[in-house]
Amino acid sequence: MKSFYITTAIDYVNGSPHIGHAYEKVLTDVIARFRRQLGDQVHFLTGTDEHGQKVQASAKQRGIEPQQFVDETSAEFRALYDRLNVSYDDFIRTTEPRHKQVVRDILQRLFAAGEIYQAEYRGFYSTRQEQFLQSKDRLPDGSWPELFGEVAEIVEANYFFRLKKHQDWLIEFLTENDDFIFPHFRQKQVMEFLKEPLNDLCISRPKARLEWGIPLPFDENYVTYVWFDALLNYYSAVVDQGRWPADYNLIGKDILVPPHAVYWPIMLKACGLPPPKHLLVHGWWLQSGAKMSKSTGAAVNPLTLVEEFGVDAFRYFLIREMNVGQDSEFTREQFLVRYNSELANNLGNLVNRTLNMTTRFASGVLPAAEVSEDPERELHDLWTRTRDEFIPLCEGFQFHTALERMMVFVTATNTYIQRREPWKLGKSAEAKDQALLRTSLATMAEALRLAVALSQHVTPATTARINAVLGYTPGADWRAELTWGAKLNGAKVAEALVLFPRPAPAEKTPAKVL
Ligand code: ME8
Ligand code: MG
Repeated sequence: MKSFYITTAIDYVNGSPHIGHAYEKVLTDVIARFRRQLGDQVHFLTGTDEHGQKVQASAKQRGIEPQQFVDETSAEFRALYDRLNVSYDDFIRTTEPRHKQVVRDILQRLFAAGEIYQAEYRGFYSTRQEQFLQSKDRLPDGSWPELFGEVAEIVEANYFFRLKKHQDWLIEFLTENDDFIFPHFRQKQVMEFLKEPLNDLCISRPKARLEWGIPLPFDENYVTYVWFDALLNYYSAVVDQGRWPADYNLIGKDILVPPHAVYWPIMLKACGLPPPKHLLVHGWWLQSGAKMSKSTGAAVNPLTLVEEFGVDAFRYFLIREMNVGQDSEFTREQFLVRYNSELANNLGNLVNRTLNMTTRFASGVLPAAEVSEDPERELHDLWTRTRDEFIPLCEGFQFHTALERMMVFVTATNTYIQRREPWKLGKSAEAKDQALLRTSLATMAEALRLAVALSQHVTPATTARINAVLGYTPGADWRAELTWGAKLNGAKVAEALVLFPRPAPAEKTPAKVL
């Protein structure tokens, strides 16, 4: 068995999760489930990033301890991922002892090896916000926004990690591993970035200013700052399991350069550990062209959509709509278009017809196919093509196209039913018509079984419910399920299943005044 270790970014717990977070975890889940179906021994890690200034400040504002604050917010993220059927094997929190211990061990090792040194740190500091500012925080005229209050340039001693020293190694590594980053154009962006000399990375904050962090093992007056803590989760979670390196670290494009593409491989290299095999970088969910974000308040709460339309409709939409690596605009209108035209009116319709007609014309017991004429042959051929394209598309993360192909097959099955008109055949007593009727019932049911076997990693609960109403228990070998056959002969089907109920009427478009 091939082992496959995949991770997500760990979310900051300084706000509530939105569709961007949900998407990343669902996408990783879809990949994990797909690899399991192919027989891989999958280990899927997700979790939460819980240290830092913002958490400390939010907790203080609520008058509670940071630990209590992160216990609550981390639970909120985790509950969402459970609700979304995200099949993680492990959930790491950076405040857990198992993580903190590994971070301290590694810091100690790097310090002993001379990879970390102390020096003066210079920066613009806002006392009101208690944070260092960056040049991008300045207004166009060079002044600092009012919210920062008085801004002073300060100098303080801090610890630095030697990035610069490993720059040539990183360039060489990326040149030799041209497929390190998916999609490929992102790797080129990293190479561009590496044309400029790197600065060493400040990795500490004095405890006097930031308490909520992991203390440096070689100087307890400091805590680690941001990335040294967060990135190491991928390693700390599996340190005793022999799983490193990860096959994929899955992240959003905002945290590729420099953290995941530069700091992370260099940190590992400096520890004598191999880099992850790949980074998989997704784009952003946008609202009116801007990144959906915890801090701008423009975020759509995934749970509202899940309550209204169900988990699988939500998962289906995310994976069907976004081309992995690109951005996508999120609108309720587009959600409803896909929900209605693909799930309710296409797949849902095929389920209804299959159950309904099998109940009416065959007492609910699926007959065997007897006839093979053009309509059947054409549908079989389309099935073979669909299946043969589907697996490589998923292997290449082209899930949106894979689902489109699956829906084309469902549409063709509905068209097949239109062509055969079983409701007319059911009224005829002729032997030929009866054979065609049995054939059409068997054919639509088998096509339905196959279609939802394909989409199982995206909509697992829907596939399970459809198998159940078809009176079918799939075997353990997923590939073996994808052969057109007679698996449903004699199965007793349920009378009905409401899968994708009609949504409450959308906000009415005002009638056009001519
Ligand atoms: O960056 N669309 O946490 P985070 C798609 N703790 N993805 C989005 C998104 C959007 N609108 N907004 C955020 C952090 N994300 C760090 C990571 S990893 C060692 C530490 C993605 O809560 C974002 O790209 O800000 C990232 O991959 C993840 O959500 C967590 O973002
Ligand atoms: Mg962020």
